[in-house]
Amino acid sequence: MKQVSIALLGCGQVGTGLVKLLQQQRNFIERRTGIRLRIKRILVRDSAKKRQVRISGITDNIRHILDDKDIDIAVELIGGIEPARSYILKLLQSGKHVVTANKAVLAHYGSEIQEIAQRIGREVYYESAVCAGVPVIRSIKEGLLANRISLLMGILNGTTNYILSRMSEEGISLNNGLKQAQQYGFAEPDPAIDLQGIDTAHKLNILASLSFAIKVRPQDIYTEGITGIELEDIKNANEFGYVIKLLAIAREIGRNKLELKVHPAMIPKVHPLAAVRNEFNALYLHGNAVGEMMFYGKGAGAMPTASAILSDIIELCTKSLTYSHQLSHFPNAWGHKRIISMDETVSLHYLRFPIVDKPGVIGKIATILGNHNISIYGATASLVPVKKALGNVRVLTKKAKESEIKRAISEINRLPIMRGRAVIIRIEE
Ligand code: HSE
Repeated sequence: MKQVSIALLGCGQVGTGLVKLLQQQRNFIERRTGIRLRIKRILVRDSAKKRQVRISGITDNIRHILDDKDIDIAVELIGGIEPARSYILKLLQSGKHVVTANKAVLAHYGSEIQEIAQRIGREVYYESAVCAGVPVIRSIKEGLLANRISLLMGILNGTTNYILSRMSEEGISLNNGLKQAQQYGFAEPDPAIDLQGIDTAHKLNILASLSFAIKVRPQDIYTEGITGIELEDIKNANEFGYVIKLLAIAREIGRNKLELKVHPAMIPKVHPLAAVRNEFNALYLHGNAVGEMMFYGKGAGAMPTASAILSDIIELCTKSLTYSHQLSHFPNAWGHKRIISMDETVSLHYLRFPIVDKPGVIGKIATILGNHNISIYGATASLVPVKKALGNVRVLTKKAKESEIKRAISEINRLPIMRGRAVIIRIEE
């Protein structure tokens, strides 16, 4: 039986999950593939630390992996940009295939890494970087290759989806939701990366590069997180027949333009993405031949992530170690699309104006919206139960240009009737 030696860089929750999964599945993998997988080396920061699983080959020196000619595949589980990026490049240059779960490094340096890998005939696999256990990368790269994809709409971050689900179902605060998500191990070491939509944008970057064969820079994606979402807006969304989700959207506008954005959005309760709760992720897409399609499953957590990593290792063993030509994982910008600015995008909007109640407040707001070509299709006003002079005006708009919404809101925010800043949540139908 052929033996393949593997090195792990990092052995936190995901690494531990991978070791466990490999132990559980070893016999099955050997019977299915005729390949014996052996974890030969594990790079850790603290070699004295007690671990949940029995592991051998621990080292705190990357050279022990780079110089070991017996190691065919290295799995990068360090996360973040550096030293992960440098290690990935060195691993490739020392002749190893790389499997990585590192969405940040791929979003920033995916093309560079891929170019180097291609030049030296090595592979970089990253199924676990997006939607963890749900095989979206392989599906887009291979299963949907015959399609022209025109829309990707996804819930790609387990932590924020968990928080929004708990806020909406139990009325808990964003901070308490985050604490729970951290206890389950979904959140990034710096949870601002989840909360501010950055992790979602990294994943959208990877999916859009792959689906549209374009180079996407992190700054090309408008990114807004969930820190401004209040229970009041979740309640209002429910009343209007919507739920609030942090969405990643890549949408073709005509044939040559593309909208790339991450922001909280209200979606109808009957939308397929509305039923995606807690740490689950989903990717809804449209291909010209397959039509609508949705992938769904756990998008965070040690074992779902380990499942995708192990699948990459097995695919590398069965394909790349035996064949030389692979479909490029990170196409190098042969697609031509202009990524439009957020100001050019058009959307329906929910607007909430916290006001001091006076006669004519709705009129003042409606006039300014009208001056900016924003049509209203619903408006209500309500008072704060304990403070009768304070209230909220809630407005649902017809399709309006982002630049006009911004101008109108900044004008309204300056009105003396406002007791706080207006809340803007886009609606995706
Ligand atoms: N923090 C990430 C999430 C982990 O919550 O989705 C998985 O990429």
